[in-house]
Amino acid sequence: MALLGALVCCLLAAWHGRPGLGLPLAPAGGRGPAAAVGQFWHVTDLHLDPTYHITDDHTKVCSSSKGANASNPGPFGDVLCDSPYQLILSVFDFIKNSGQEASFMIWTGDSPPHVPVAELSTETVINVITNMTTTIQSFFPNLQVLPALGNHDYWPQDQLPIVSSKVYNAVANLWKPWLDEEAVRTLRGGGFYSQKVRTNPNLRIISLNTNLYYGPNIVTLNKTDPANQFEWLESTLNSSRQNKEQVYIIAHVPVGYLPSSKSTTAMREYYNEKLINIFRKFSDVIAGQFYGHTHRDSIMVLSDTKGSPITSLFVAPAVTPVKNILEKQTNNPGVRLFQYDPRDYKLLDMLQYYLNLTEANLKGESNWKLEYILTQTYGIKDLQPESLYGLAKQFTILDSKQFMKYYNYYFVSYDSSVICGKICKAFQICAVMNLDHISYENCLRQYYIKHCH
Ligand SMILES: *[C@@H]1O[C@H](CO)[C@@H](O)[C@H](O)[C@H]1NC(C)=O
Ligand SMILES: *[C@@H]1O[C@H](CO)[C@@H](O)[C@H](O)[C@H]1NC(C)=O
Ligand SMILES: *[C@@H]1O[C@H](CO)[C@@H](O)[C@H](O)[C@H]1NC(C)=O
Ligand SMILES: *[C@@H]1O[C@H](CO)[C@@H](O)[C@H](O)[C@H]1NC(C)=O
Ligand SMILES: *[C@@H]1O[C@H](CO)[C@@H](O)[C@H](O)[C@H]1NC(C)=O
Ligand SMILES: [Zn+2]
Ligand SMILES: [Zn+2]
Repeated sequence: MALLGALVCCLLAAWHGRPGLGLPLAPAGGRGPAAAVGQFWHVTDLHLDPTYHITDDHTKVCSSSKGANASNPGPFGDVLCDSPYQLILSVFDFIKNSGQEASFMIWTGDSPPHVPVAELSTETVINVITNMTTTIQSFFPNLQVLPALGNHDYWPQDQLPIVSSKVYNAVANLWKPWLDEEAVRTLRGGGFYSQKVRTNPNLRIISLNTNLYYGPNIVTLNKTDPANQFEWLESTLNSSRQNKEQVYIIAHVPVGYLPSSKSTTAMREYYNEKLINIFRKFSDVIAGQFYGHTHRDSIMVLSDTKGSPITSLFVAPAVTPVKNILEKQTNNPGVRLFQYDPRDYKLLDMLQYYLNLTEANLKGESNWKLEYILTQTYGIKDLQPESLYGLAKQFTILDSKQFMKYYNYYFVSYDSSVICGKICKAFQICAVMNLDHISYENCLRQYYIKHCH
């Protein structure tokens, strides 16, 4: 730990001592007058707990508290519980009445609750996904929704298979209104698909089943290309390039490193390296990447092997506020709106909305609010890789105000007094800027060798 402390200290000192690397602040909002902007919603990790109900015995409020006393249960939920249906209704009601026009929505998985495997079944998992799907369809009958499967969207959880299954079949049928025949076919066979956005010519969504690469999935142990998804991804990106399409990648489990721990990839490292190589090879086709699963709000910038930023990636915070009894922090419920240039699908901005759960429960009403606008809160020009890379460089400055904001938003403003020390900050920043093994380890090691020996 002491060694690590020294390492991190040197690392940050090294960054601090090289101000020339920081990019200048760009004024926000300098876009042309009334330039048309495209918009889409991103919702993730709904985790409905159908057992949630208010009762005097707080151990009985929700199965997802796993026998613990709910901490302060109200109509919109509790931090030790997954989402009550009322919280899920409130988020879609907010989206519907927000006054924002969106041309589609992405939904990156995890509908069932965090409960022991024995409390669910294939049937209950399919029921929850059906409930969420029909709920969304009833709010937005004319909106195309592009979903991705999460590690909880299966029974037993995490064990998503490499061949067809009851769950893949069920979602293929449920999601038919949003998808073309070929997408329904690959979804049925392996839980992934690619689909053109109906309102946007030349924009394709590739929905990956990254749960096949998730550590706890024993079905895919030692498999080099589970369900041949890598091969399919390369050929799909290749055709997109031929057809001059732009692609948004969506999936549940993100690529890259977990921001809150040391040297831990979200998926198995071997698969992470494979995906990073493909994403680098096709960075000219990929206009953005969108994930869920961590329940936190974070950004990543993929660089090429020479270190130039090439793709922006966004991990969206969950709707569920759930945390483990041992954890101090969690997230407020969140949902976000992206803005893009409808001519080339370049990402322009992101509006993060949240529900102050404490306040909602106190007042007995849900008042979803804007938490921040990404370009405005950080004073950057847009969401292009160069802009996010410049922001990440600013984070590295000692006592960076920008980073303090970022870390408060990481938990969706759950606890503004939360502090990220030197080691915590190094893990966060190395995860933002480095997605492959070599560059991530260099992010820590290189500066250690240079400045401490
Ligand atoms: C979804 O589940 C909730 C909670 O169990 C229930 O109240 C609601 O009626 C269900 N809705 C649909 C569309 O199945
Ligand atoms: C829950 O709270 C009650 C009342 O405060 C207490 O008696 C009980 O031991 C608590 N149960 C657990 C599992 O913490
Ligand atoms: C995977 O490979 C390792 C190392 O070769 C081996 O020990 C293990 O038994 C294999 N597991 C499976 C499920 O094939
Ligand atoms: C990419 O597409 C072109 C044209 O369709 C084809 O000739 C080429 O073999 C494809 N490459 C890969 C790796 O699929
Ligand atoms: C959320 O509401 C609580 C209770 O009103 C308040 O103390 C807290 O400051 C609010 N949090 C934010 C981020 O506004
Ligand atoms: Zn989740
Ligand atoms: Zn997950």
